[in-house]
Amino acid sequence: MKQIVVPELDHFLREKVDKELQNYPSLMSANEKMLLYTLAAKVYTGEGYIVDGGVYLGGSTFSLAKGLADNIRVKLPDGKTIHSYDRFQVQESLIKHLQRSSTLAKIGDVALEKGDDFLPVVQELTKEYSEYIEFHPGDILDAEVPGPIEIAYWHVLKNAEIDASVFDKFVPHFISGKTIIVFQEYFFEGLPFVKIRQEYFADYFEFLGESGAAAVFRFKKALPKRAFSGDPIAKLSSYERCALIDQAAARTVVPDRKLLVELSKIPIITKEQGQREAVRALEDIETRYHRQILDAALPGSGESHLLRAWRKIAQKVRAEVAA
Ligand SMILES: C[S@@+](CC[C@H](N)C(=O)[O-])C[C@H]1O[C@@H](n2cnc3c(N)ncnc32)[C@H](O)[C@@H]1O
Repeated sequence: MKQIVVPELDHFLREKVDKELQNYPSLMSANEKMLLYTLAAKVYTGEGYIVDGGVYLGGSTFSLAKGLADNIRVKLPDGKTIHSYDRFQVQESLIKHLQRSSTLAKIGDVALEKGDDFLPVVQELTKEYSEYIEFHPGDILDAEVPGPIEIAYWHVLKNAEIDASVFDKFVPHFISGKTIIVFQEYFFEGLPFVKIRQEYFADYFEFLGESGAAAVFRFKKALPKRAFSGDPIAKLSSYERCALIDQAAARTVVPDRKLLVELSKIPIITKEQGQREAVRALEDIETRYHRQILDAALPGSGESHLLRAWRKIAQKVRAEVAA
């Protein structure tokens, strides 16, 4: 597998850090947290700020802050280094995770309900590193950028409007040859617009590697002004967008991930090329990823994410055709 291009941590440090990161309540995996920790500890140089877009209980912010605290080489920029953006308001999709006993045990049995402000909980959980962190509660659409950005972590690109707005606002502050961008949700079946935009501007970014569903890029060079006026992505045909999704699928070396990324074309094809074309595309995917689908369905494999995603999308398309 293509490895993330970050220096390795020595074994002892990795074990120690791993435990602390794992204990922190989060929607991220241990490896994904370790990736952020390592970027802040070993790659970050202090030339720009660190942005965490999509904080939830602070797992990403904590991983970055802990890494920053362990970064012995760095002279920090003015003000707080890590800028963390979130609404910090309980939404429906977070309730299940918030009410798990393992989460409750870590956040001190605070009962949170839909609409509640959870910033105080995050501040308490990250207080060890409060000197580094500035929280920006509110809609990311209204976000203010602190200055040049050296690391950008995105876990908030939940719809096309946010994706376009974050791009227009933050990318002009990226540093050529330096900024590292982590898309937490890239190699999976959702958020096609994230992959489409990133692949459309592929000449301006170097792909560094992957960790789970996350993709890591380095910003190579400044984008032309026209990239930020109007939305170039909105003008692309469905065929062009699907080709860009294929380009994203080609980056991952994990066959299951390629299949998931390719599945994100199906809703576009259904809507813009028709159901017959969607069935044809689905059959093509099924033929090429026959092995992955069979393996995922083997008894004892459990209901894997891949199988659930495949069944959901395939059943929807076939039901629409049958109706
Ligand atoms: C998947 S969670 C982030 C998980 C986090 N990185 C972690 O370590 O667990 C996505 C977050 O995005 C936030 N969010 C969604 N839409 C937003 C918006 N328009 N503006 C600001 N935050 C938003 C949600 O409140 C949620 O906390």
